[in-house]
Amino acid sequence: MAKINRRDFVSASTTVLGAAGLRLPLWAQVAASGAASASVPLLLGVDYYPDQTPESLWEEDARRIAEAGLTNVRIAEFAWVLMEPSEGKFDFDWLQRSVDILHRADIGVILGTPSAAPPPWLTVKYPDVVEVDEKGNRLHPGGRRFSCPTNATYRRLSLAVATEMARKFTRHPGVIGWQIDNEFTLGSSPRCYCNYCRAGFQAWLRTKYGTLDQVNQTWGTNFWSQHYSDWAQIPVPLPSGGDPNPGLALDYDRYQSFANASFLEEQLAMLRKLCSKHFVTTNNIGVPYEAIDDRELYAKLDFVAFDNYPGFFEMMLHQSGQGGPLLNTAVPAMVAMQHDFGRSILRKPFLIMEEQSGKAGQTTFSPQPEKGQVRLWSYQAIAHGAMGINYFRWDTATSGAEEYWHGMLNHDRSKSPAFDEILQTVRELKALGPEFLRSDYEAEMALYFDYDCSWAMKIQPGHFRLSYAEQATAWYGAASPSHTGIDIVGPGSDLSRYRIVFAPVVYVLSEAQADRIRQYVKGGGVFVTSFRLGVKTETSQIVRQPLPGYLADVMGVTLEDYAPVYAQNPHVKFSSMLAGPEAECGIWADILKPSSAEVLATYSSGQYSGKPAIAVNNVGKGKAVYIGADLHPPDLFRVLGAFAGAAGIQRAIDVPAGVELTVRNSGSRRWLCVLNHKSEAQMIHLAGTFKDANSGQAHRDATELPAYGVLVLEKV
Ligand code: GAL
Repeated sequence: MAKINRRDFVSASTTVLGAAGLRLPLWAQVAASGAASASVPLLLGVDYYPDQTPESLWEEDARRIAEAGLTNVRIAEFAWVLMEPSEGKFDFDWLQRSVDILHRADIGVILGTPSAAPPPWLTVKYPDVVEVDEKGNRLHPGGRRFSCPTNATYRRLSLAVATEMARKFTRHPGVIGWQIDNEFTLGSSPRCYCNYCRAGFQAWLRTKYGTLDQVNQTWGTNFWSQHYSDWAQIPVPLPSGGDPNPGLALDYDRYQSFANASFLEEQLAMLRKLCSKHFVTTNNIGVPYEAIDDRELYAKLDFVAFDNYPGFFEMMLHQSGQGGPLLNTAVPAMVAMQHDFGRSILRKPFLIMEEQSGKAGQTTFSPQPEKGQVRLWSYQAIAHGAMGINYFRWDTATSGAEEYWHGMLNHDRSKSPAFDEILQTVRELKALGPEFLRSDYEAEMALYFDYDCSWAMKIQPGHFRLSYAEQATAWYGAASPSHTGIDIVGPGSDLSRYRIVFAPVVYVLSEAQADRIRQYVKGGGVFVTSFRLGVKTETSQIVRQPLPGYLADVMGVTLEDYAPVYAQNPHVKFSSMLAGPEAECGIWADILKPSSAEVLATYSSGQYSGKPAIAVNNVGKGKAVYIGADLHPPDLFRVLGAFAGAAGIQRAIDVPAGVELTVRNSGSRRWLCVLNHKSEAQMIHLAGTFKDANSGQAHRDATELPAYGVLVLEKV
């Protein structure tokens, strides 16, 4: 059974720092203080922009932020030009004045290093720091996130300003930690294709493969006369008349992830040296965003920090024509998936570095969060294991590209519609008490997410509508309503912690990973996977074996054929433990030929009528399930639910659709976090008596949860 434990995290950090004789960071001091009411291991802050605010307002801001009950701010992550107005001339006096004021108000400061927004003097003097996009066009300065992660000049100057900053603030008692850069790869061009990246890629390949022979053999470069006889001949995947070699393209995705992570690590190494008493993290968003391997990015950081904009997701769903009833379920599930991923990366509590607090958007805006939604999103993060939330942002900018990304204050500095709700939430969260806040989130299920699968499938989706990220999201959405706790794992994770692992579209599979899965199943695990299993090796070659390649023995099937579906979607007829209404197969059908597996569903129309679509194989003490048909969400929900049930997964209580439940445990104490994502009240049927952790009120058997309402209930 998987556990994450906030207590271990906080106490480990406080012990280490205390033993070193160092002043504890604010959040750790609070956690270590011991007094029940004060001992709140939460960072509850706001993203603040003194650089964009007249200095005459800073005192007032600090006072109001403190009065709001907020513990900290995150500042300065885009303020490069103010810190270094010209090359090598640094000015931190303004920042010092701001940090002093905040500190006097007892507000801890997370400092952001400013490399995501290089100033104009830099791009004019060094124009080739600007990245080149996937069409081969150089971007232009004037926005942000436009620079090349490989470029040595950009790296040198980014490190220089961050180093000066670290020297200046290492001893400032108001500073508690650092955010390096801001949202790696989350710009209009997530990858750079410039000549520096090309040279960096060649060097990376040399380290990875050692010899050119190895590269040529792995990628199969005889195809289209691409044999390389010099490292310098190796291109990056820019438009070239035909598609790139898939092996090269996958390695390029990996290289870009490496380049960004190693860029971060340069600043991290410096901060570890100069600011050893501060925590260091970065902010990004998680799966299904797939431009960078977050596991690689966060590997050496103290904890994961994510940005969370549910309303912005909602707007994007509308933009892509998927508005309407989906929103009550799709958005909360996507957000929950990000939280579960954030917690799972380092198996530690995570921080929401930016939480939506108003209408969000640059040129078009998300809806105004409805009354209760900002509170609901805050609780959702905590319910999934967050150790804190920073609301984005304090005031709303009156100039710049984000004038309409609304914060806690309106443009005229009056309170935003959600202002009082945030204050109430902060008060409530602090009062929930340390034991709940430090309790374990336990997961008996896991969703397998592998960036290699995601990238390789982007390169060759096989069907224009087949997307790994969408399949993973759909499977998460189908599995999570069991509300029994789900981690998001990847290659190399210890699967034995879980009763059941859901692994859709494992398109890339190494022999080593196949073996880990084999051992997991033999040892009693249930491995549920789908079409396109094991098609490619980790070097992106097609396996020269009957599919599903390395896992054919475990799955107890080989494939008779694999078929993208465009029209005449075959029907699927279920039998045995899956018996239920016929379903329609969506965009893909793998046609199974069982060797030892038992057939649980067959195609029931079209040219594959009568052929197996789903099969289960008993291996050792466990089971391996192959779902060959792409199932629509309600059918997927039913089918995954049946396997979860058979694996012994039990729901704590049943909740209606649109209501989310997480369970937290601490010793013999158990809490249910019940979150109503719907705009109407919902009846919740409780088995037994529970105490409301907020009000102390007892709830017996049934209770009504208002629209966007939240209950934290302790079993009595
Ligand atoms: C985040 C970003 C912030 C701000 C915010 C609202 O993605 O980190 O700097 O841009 O969105 O747009």
